[in-house]
Amino acid sequence: MILVTGATGYIGSHTWVELLNAGYKVLGIDNFCNSSRKVLDRVEKITGQKSQFIEGDMLDEKFLSSLFRNNPIESVIHFAGLKSVGESIKIPISHYQNNIHGLLNLLKVMQENQCNKFVFSSSATVYHPNNLIPYVEGMSLGSTNPYGWSKYMSEQILRDIEVADTSWSVAYLRYFNPIGAHESGLIGDDPKGVPNNLMPFITQVAVGRREYLSIFGDDWPTPDGTGIRDYIHVVDLARGHIKALDYLINQKQSLTINLGTGQGYSVLDLVKSFEKVSGKKIHYQIVERRPGDIAQFYANSQLAKKLLDWTVEYDVDRMCKDSWRWQLKNPNGFGE
Ligand code: NAD
Ligand code: UFG
Repeated sequence: MILVTGATGYIGSHTWVELLNAGYKVLGIDNFCNSSRKVLDRVEKITGQKSQFIEGDMLDEKFLSSLFRNNPIESVIHFAGLKSVGESIKIPISHYQNNIHGLLNLLKVMQENQCNKFVFSSSATVYHPNNLIPYVEGMSLGSTNPYGWSKYMSEQILRDIEVADTSWSVAYLRYFNPIGAHESGLIGDDPKGVPNNLMPFITQVAVGRREYLSIFGDDWPTPDGTGIRDYIHVVDLARGHIKALDYLINQKQSLTINLGTGQGYSVLDLVKSFEKVSGKKIHYQIVERRPGDIAQFYANSQLAKKLLDWTVEYDVDRMCKDSWRWQLKNPNGFGE
């Protein structure tokens, strides 16, 4: 049985579906601080399988202990945590508490139960912003905000555990920019409040919830002056987790890999692609650069291909199409 923490979140729910489709037995947990109970029905609807789920908090060690006592958990995929860069600067303690304390609770309980296969949601944000692009796994690490540091520290904690106990194997998955949604339109990204990320902002403009998109600067040193990122379809990303889990189970070795497409797209590229597939005009205004942003980054994704035989299936048009289907079917997200 695979324990998925943060199972009802954006990436967790898509990975849950792929795990069930691949025949894994899954137990999901979440405290719903950034997700909806409706995801449970939706996952069942997509997969035709009953989803096993328990509500609980990563900060509650007793809950985690009872979970491991009562279920034959062999491996863990850990998504639960807070992910807002901006909020992490304003309220660092809750970010460190959720992301570090939550992780430590989980690792302690796993160790007590001899469970030692772990897939970790890391991020491209752990690469030092001064690195040349594309980012390669061996490049220097660092961050500019508490969220990024929490991922950096989490990686270090896991590496220390691996040194102390060689029976552990850990997949450090450094995600680039996940967008898109399941093709059913039943699950997708549903940020609470004003979206921080580009794609949910675009879809909310398209569906009429927001008047226009603010583009954070058109004077970056990029061909069209807007920021460049490596957008990856969330289903391709989810499938990367299954491959990484299989690797841990079969090879009994750790791995650190980028999960990105290896291609960069600018903000204006994404807007144009979205307009093309949706037939909707996205009104935008150019505003000041967002503090902390960098001009561009994208992945070198060769290592994931080599070690996992993982490559992406979906292009940017498909990512936009699926994001739009999700938003159109659920104008108010999960409505909570
Ligand atoms: P999300 O917020 O949609 O999902 C996280 C889930 O964890 C939510 O359902 C939330 O309710 C739950 N959660 C948070 N704290 C919890 C706690 N203490 N106990 C139990 N549940 C808790 O985010 P996501 O986009 O699905 O991201 C999943 C993981 O991937 C996170 O660790 C995030 O940092 C990482 N990541 C995300 C991105 C991205 O752009 N989405 C990029 C890189 C890395
Ligand atoms: N952007 C806008 N307007 C918006 C939102 C974003 O112009 O309303 C621009 C940004 O300036 C940037 C690009 O769109 O150039 C992408 O921005 P996002 O906020 O969607 O993504 P980031 O690359 O800034 O960060 C995301 C996650 C981080 C994660 C990182 C790498 O938010 O948590 O990807 O995985 F670390």
